[in-house]
Amino acid sequence: MELKIKNVCCIGAGFVGGPTMAVMSKFCKEIIFNVVDINQKRIDAWNNEDLDKLPVYEPGLKEIVSKTRNENLFFSTNVKESIKNADMIFISVNTPTKKSGLGAGKASDLKWVENCAREVALYAIGHTIVVEKSTLPVKTAETIKRILHYETTANKNFDNKKTFAILSNPEFLSEGTAINDLENPDRILIGGEDEDAMNELEKIYLNWVKKEKIIRTNLWSSELSKLIANAFLAQRISSINSVSALCEVTGADVNDISLAIGFDKRIGKLFLNSGPGFGGSCFKKDILNLVYICDHYGLHTVSRYWNEVLRINVWQQKRISSIIVEKLFGTISDKKITILGLAFKANTNDTRESPAIKICEDLIEEGAILKIYDPKVKESQIKKLLPEKNQVNWSYYSSVLEAAYDSHAIVVLTEWGDFKDLNWTEIKKIMKNPSWVFDTRNIIDVQKAKSSGLQTWVLGQST
Ligand code: UDX
Ligand code: ADP
Repeated sequence: MELKIKNVCCIGAGFVGGPTMAVMSKFCKEIIFNVVDINQKRIDAWNNEDLDKLPVYEPGLKEIVSKTRNENLFFSTNVKESIKNADMIFISVNTPTKKSGLGAGKASDLKWVENCAREVALYAIGHTIVVEKSTLPVKTAETIKRILHYETTANKNFDNKKTFAILSNPEFLSEGTAINDLENPDRILIGGEDEDAMNELEKIYLNWVKKEKIIRTNLWSSELSKLIANAFLAQRISSINSVSALCEVTGADVNDISLAIGFDKRIGKLFLNSGPGFGGSCFKKDILNLVYICDHYGLHTVSRYWNEVLRINVWQQKRISSIIVEKLFGTISDKKITILGLAFKANTNDTRESPAIKICEDLIEEGAILKIYDPKVKESQIKKLLPEKNQVNWSYYSSVLEAAYDSHAIVVLTEWGDFKDLNWTEIKKIMKNPSWVFDTRNIIDVQKAKSSGLQTWVLGQST
C-alpha cells in the first residue's frame, strides 16, 4: 500500500515519546522519525553512544535504538526544522496536575501542550496531521484545534495555505513492558473526524498491528477512553489493596483471593496484585482529572466515587508505614531501615508518584535512617526526590548486602526480580537483632527468611 506519510515529528522525548517512536521506526523503515525535545540533556542522553545511558530504561529499548538511531530515527532539539519537515506530528509532552490556579491539584496543566500547538501553528508547512499522544483531558483536541485555527487564519504573517487535521491516539503502554506493549498492543485507538488523516495513521500501525485491533471513534470518546481505562485499572488495585488489610486481620491470604477471583473470566487474572499502592505518572493524575471533569459537570456523586480510589491508595501507603513503626516496638527513631526498591514498579527507572517515596518520607519523618538500594534508580535521582533536609536521614548503596548491613529492618517496596531470591542467611548475619523484613510486594521467599531467623511481615497475610 502507498504511504503518504514520509516524515514524522514527535514533540517530547520522554517515557512515552522515545519508546513509541523507537518501535515505529523499527516497523516503518520508509518513514523518517524526528524526536524533538527542549531538554538538551535528555536529547544528549538519547544520542549517547553508550546505550546503557539512554534516559529511559525499558527492556528491549536499547536493542531497537541501536539499530534505528541515525538510520530513520533521530533525536534533536531542532523543534522548528522538524515541525517544518513533518507530514504528521505526535504531541507527546508532559501534562502534570496543575499546581496552582483554577483546578489546582486536579486539572491537568496544559501549558506544554498549548506551547506545542503554537509552535506547530507557527512552523508547519502545507497539510499536517497533528496527533495527541499524551494523556489529555477530554476536549483538549478542541483547544489544539482552536489554537491552530486562530494562529493560521487570524495572524496575517502566516501562510494561509496551512491546514491541519487533529487526531487523538492515546498510548496505553505500561512502563517496564513498554516495548512489548507497543509491539503487541491490545488495541490501537484512533479518534478523529477527518477520515483521510485517520487512514494515514492507521496505515502506519498496519505495518505491525492487525486491522481488527484498530478501533476508530470520535475525538471525545478516544480522549475519555484513555482516562477511563486508567481509572478502571487503578480501581482494581485499590480494590485488592483494601482486601489486603481485611486478609491480614481475618487469616485469609490476599494471593489466594486474587487467584480465586481471577479465574472468573468476567473479573480476569491480571492487575490483581496487592502492593503498596499504585504509582507512576498516569493513574493519580488521570483520576484527579476525571474527578475534576465530573465536578465541573455537576456529577458530584460520580466524582466522589472515583476519588475513593485515590483515598484508598494513600491509606494503603500510610498503613504500611504505621505497621513498620508498630512492629519495631513503636519507634523507629535513629533506627536503620533498608529500603529495597524506589521505582514505582519493577523494570523501570521511573520514580514518579512512587509509593516507595511516600513511605520513605513517612519513615524519615518518624526519625529513621534509611539505607536505600534500587537496581536502576540513581543516587542523583533520589537527591531530587527526598528533600534536602532529609539527606542526612538516608544514604544510597549499590548492593542489597551493603544496604542491609547493620539495619533493624528491610522493607521491600519494588518487585524487582533480584529481590525474589535473596540469600536470607547471609543477610540475617549482618543485620541487627531482632531483624525484620517487611514485604509489601509479596515476592520474597518467606519460609527461607523465617528459617534464617528473621521476623517477617507480608502484605495481605496474617503473619
Ligand atoms: C499505566 C497503564 O497500565 C497504562 O495502560 C497507561 O498507558 C499508563 O499508566 P504504568 O503506570 O506505566 O501504566 O504501569 P502499570 O503497570 O499500570 O502500574 C501502575 C502502578 O500500579 C504501579 O505502581 C504498579 O506497581 C501498580 N500495580 C499494578 C499494582 O500494585 N498491582 C497490580 O496488579 C498492577
Ligand atoms: P511522558 O511520560 O508523558 O512521556 P515525560 O515528562 O517523560 O512525559 O516527557 C515529556 C517531554 O516533553 C519532556 O522531556 C519535556 O522536556 C518535553 N517537552 C515539553 N514541552 C515541550 C515543547 N514545547 N517542545 C519540545 N519538548 C517539550
